[in-house]
Amino acid sequence: MKKLIIAVTALGLLAFGSLSVQASPQSDLKAFQGYFKKNFPKIKFDDFSNGLYALPEAADRRAEWEAIEEFPPYELDLAKGKKFWEKNKLGTCFKNGGAGIAQNYPYWDKKKKEVRTAELDINACLKRQGKKPIKKGKLATVTAYFYNMARGKRIKIDVSAPGAIAEYEKGKHFFWAKRGQLNFSCANCHISGAGKRVGGNIMSTALGHGTGFPAYRSKWGGLGTIHRRYKGCNKQVRTAPLKQNNKTYRALQLYETYMNTGLPLTAPSNRF
Ligand code: HEC
Repeated sequence: MKKLIIAVTALGLLAFGSLSVQASPQSDLKAFQGYFKKNFPKIKFDDFSNGLYALPEAADRRAEWEAIEEFPPYELDLAKGKKFWEKNKLGTCFKNGGAGIAQNYPYWDKKKKEVRTAELDINACLKRQGKKPIKKGKLATVTAYFYNMARGKRIKIDVSAPGAIAEYEKGKHFFWAKRGQLNFSCANCHISGAGKRVGGNIMSTALGHGTGFPAYRSKWGGLGTIHRRYKGCNKQVRTAPLKQNNKTYRALQLYETYMNTGLPLTAPSNRF
């Protein structure tokens, strides 16, 4: 950890000036994706969905990762997720039975006036049937099945409503704000630090964040949600992680996912 901290501090704070506070989501998106296209010209746009494995710097890891994806460790989980989904008739709560719609998640719910994640909708569906909510690995497993039904679909998030824009701005702020004992923002590692190696890790580009989640990590011994990954990154800079489905993480997920507009979903995926 100490090594990581020192290396990360040495990365410095490259400016990413084009993201002004007043910008609209549309102009943010152009600047954000433009930055990565310009600075990572060797990466094909769709490949950004593969996290750190898209980076030329991680070419050695890529082959190993591709071999794992051929017989993915999450295959059994997908079967479990499907079984749970069908047994609990979760399809009855979703448009199109839940098939091919995950590319529009998370979304702004005009009636509830909040950002809804797939995890929240799955548990709301269980509640409607008088069943107990599911958590952690089980929730990640069922969510992974839901996302898998939309694998390959291109991300399209609607941030046109004023309420959605307000949450988007909160998420954007969280992404760019410095925090923790290390005084690091997400952007420090995943924009200026993207492609750089710290303490044995190569940091992924923020473009593509979340497209492979829920993801399987051997460190977790199973599937985990995107919020679980956010928690890990918060801990890395020694700041208190937030709870799953906390409003701030939902806003962050809305911001990060909107920045992925046009990228294909690759969830679930195997991740380092
Ligand atoms: C100290 C550096 C650092 C900071 C700060 C940091 N991360 Fe990370 N993050 C990492 C490393 C290292 C990994 C693992 C390698 C990778 O995939 O980037 C990672 C992985 C991720 C992943 C998984 C990417 C994938 O496709 O597997 C996401 C998503 C992510 N971080 C989001 C965030 C967000 C959001 C923040 C701010 C709350 C943040 N990170 C802050 C270092 C950092």
